[in-house]
Amino acid sequence: MRRRKCINSVDIPEATSRFLDDVLVGLQKEQKKLPPKYFYDARGSELFNSICTLKEYYIPRTEISIMKANIDEIVGVLGKNVVLIECGCGNCTKTRKLLSHLQDPAAYIPVDISFKQLKTIVTELALDYPDLEILPVCADYSDNLLLPVPSKVGSKEVVYFPGSSISNFEPDAAVEFLKHARRICGKDGGLLIGVDLKKDSDVLNLAYNDGQGVTSAFNLNILERINRELDGDFQLKHFQHHAFYNQIEGRVEMHLVSLKEQVVHLDNLAINFSKGESIWTENSYKYDIEEFKLMADTAGFILKKVWTDEKPWFSVMYLT
Ligand code: AVI
Repeated sequence: MRRRKCINSVDIPEATSRFLDDVLVGLQKEQKKLPPKYFYDARGSELFNSICTLKEYYIPRTEISIMKANIDEIVGVLGKNVVLIECGCGNCTKTRKLLSHLQDPAAYIPVDISFKQLKTIVTELALDYPDLEILPVCADYSDNLLLPVPSKVGSKEVVYFPGSSISNFEPDAAVEFLKHARRICGKDGGLLIGVDLKKDSDVLNLAYNDGQGVTSAFNLNILERINRELDGDFQLKHFQHHAFYNQIEGRVEMHLVSLKEQVVHLDNLAINFSKGESIWTENSYKYDIEEFKLMADTAGFILKKVWTDEKPWFSVMYLT
């Protein structure tokens, strides 16, 4: 394997080597798989931002509407002088809502794997919130994090994890992530989390099969990324986006289906595809509030408060 000594978490050769290892392992499985975290290169993040504006993709607008409708209660429950730690800050739309209403926050610590995304966000937020101490951390938020110490002592640490990113973890891994969040926020802190709820399968099937093909482009971009960064030779025209709600498992599955028998080359390896064989690229789990509460219990959290929209399609929960 190509490995180089890593200087810090943003070291590119180490990241590339990890990417290659993960892709090779995934593509040699009986059911070929790719980890969804590799969707988010610059192009993938751009496509995901476009997904977030689609009428079919109800998550961002529903979550924002819940935040807007309940912001006073939410910041009241969180309390004064909190240190807000955001895992995977994306483009920060919901965070702005929180930061604008939080009562005298001690600091904001955004954690994101994309250095570029982090830099843009910090530059923009520093202009809009000149009195707020912003301490960015470029890292994979699932790793053990060494967080910076703010200059003001905060009342508590609150981890913010919006957008239902928890949906993309397998349930066991979701519990592990919740335990990880518990360690970050400590015994007096809390976790404010966006969780997508179970709903009519037609709504879900549409949300992951939009009319403009943005989700399809987002899914296929992972192959383009492998070609670009790892020198693979995937022919994108021979793969097709396939997403559907698996009601039994309570998850939307995304796959890339091979349209013909073909061989793809990567790192001196020939990977065979039969016609109709798929690479499983993502699961997006949908939960009932009770189901999620059980997972939170298992991780040692108490569900303090839940806010939902009217339908209810989405929830924002506060766990302590
Ligand atoms: C980031 N995550 C919560 C999205 C989801 O809905 O599972 C990723 C996504 N995949 C396709 N569309 C959106």
